Amino acid sequence: MGKILVTGALGQIGSELVPALRERHGGAAVIASGIRYRSVGAVTEGGTIELLDCTKLDDIRAVVEKHDIETIYHMAAMLSAIGEDKPEEAWELNFGGFANVLKVARRRDCAVFFPSSIGAFGPSTPRLNTPQDTVQRPTTIYGVAKVVGELLADYYAARFGLDTRGLRLPGLISYVALPGGGTTDYAVEIFYQAIREQRFSCFLRADTRLDMMYMPDAVAAIMQVMEADAGRLSHRNAFNVSAMSFTPAELAAAIQRHIPDFAIDYEVDPLRQAIADSWPDAMDDSAARAEWGWQPRYDLAAMTEDMLEKVAAKLGAT
Ligand code: SER
Repeated sequence: MGKILVTGALGQIGSELVPALRERHGGAAVIASGIRYRSVGAVTEGGTIELLDCTKLDDIRAVVEKHDIETIYHMAAMLSAIGEDKPEEAWELNFGGFANVLKVARRRDCAVFFPSSIGAFGPSTPRLNTPQDTVQRPTTIYGVAKVVGELLADYYAARFGLDTRGLRLPGLISYVALPGGGTTDYAVEIFYQAIREQRFSCFLRADTRLDMMYMPDAVAAIMQVMEADAGRLSHRNAFNVSAMSFTPAELAAAIQRHIPDFAIDYEVDPLRQAIADSWPDAMDDSAARAEWGWQPRYDLAAMTEDMLEKVAAKLGAT
C-alpha cells in the first residue's frame, strides 16, 4: 500500500478519516493537509501535516511528488450555504480544486476519492427513494460543482483509466470537528445546544426531511468503497449512500427521550430552507449495497444516544 494524501484533513470529515486511515495503514502512510493550520488532536499529532491550497496546481503536485502519494482523498471543499454567499470562490475551490487533483493524479496514476453529496440533486429530482441514476439539476453552486465533479471523475476513469471512486454523502453528524456553513449543520448544533442549554432554535422548518449519516458510518463507507473490488463497481464515482432520514422535529423527539426538558423552536433561514427544499427526502442506496456491500450501523436512536454521550464528554458535562 503506497502513501495516502487527505486534503481538507482538518475539516468535519478529514478530522475523523485521517485517524481511521492511520489506524488501518500506519501513521507514516497518511499525509494530512489543510489550507491553514489549526490543532486537531488526532490529525495534527498523529503524523505528517502539510499546508496545501488545492486551488494551486503546483502546490498539489509538489506535495504528491514529495511524499510519493498513490491515493488521494479529496475532502477540501466549501459547504452549501456558505457557497451561496461566495459562489465564485466556492466554484474555484470545489470544482477548480478537484480538477487540479485529477490533473496531478493522472500524471502520477493516483487513485482518487471524491465526496459528492445529496447536494448534487435538485428540485426536479424525485424526492422519495431518489434513484441512483436520475435527474441532476441542482440550484446551488455547491451542487453544480458536485455534479461536474462526478462527471469529471467518471471521465478520467473512462478516458485515462484512473481509479476514481466516490459517494453521494448525506448530512453528516459528528462531534470531533464542527461543520461550517452547511445546510444540514443544524443536526450537529442541536446536540451542543441540547447539552448546554436544553433548548435549540432551528434554522430549518420542523418538517424538513433529509438524508443523514453518523460519521463512523461515513468513514467506514469511504474506506470500504476505496477498498472494494473494482470489477464489481459500475457506479464508481457517485454512489447514493444513506443511513437515516429524519426531520428536525423527529431529531428533537429522539433527544427528548434522553433529555425530557429539551425544547426546540424554529427561526427559519430562508436561504438554507430553500436549499434543503431542493434536496431529496430519502435516497435509494441499493446500488452501494449491491456493488460493495454498504450497510450502515447507526440509525437515528443509536446515533442520538452516542452523540449525546460524546458531546457531553467533550463539553465536560458528564
Ligand atoms: N452537508 C452538506 C451541506 O449541508 C451537504 O452535503 O452543505
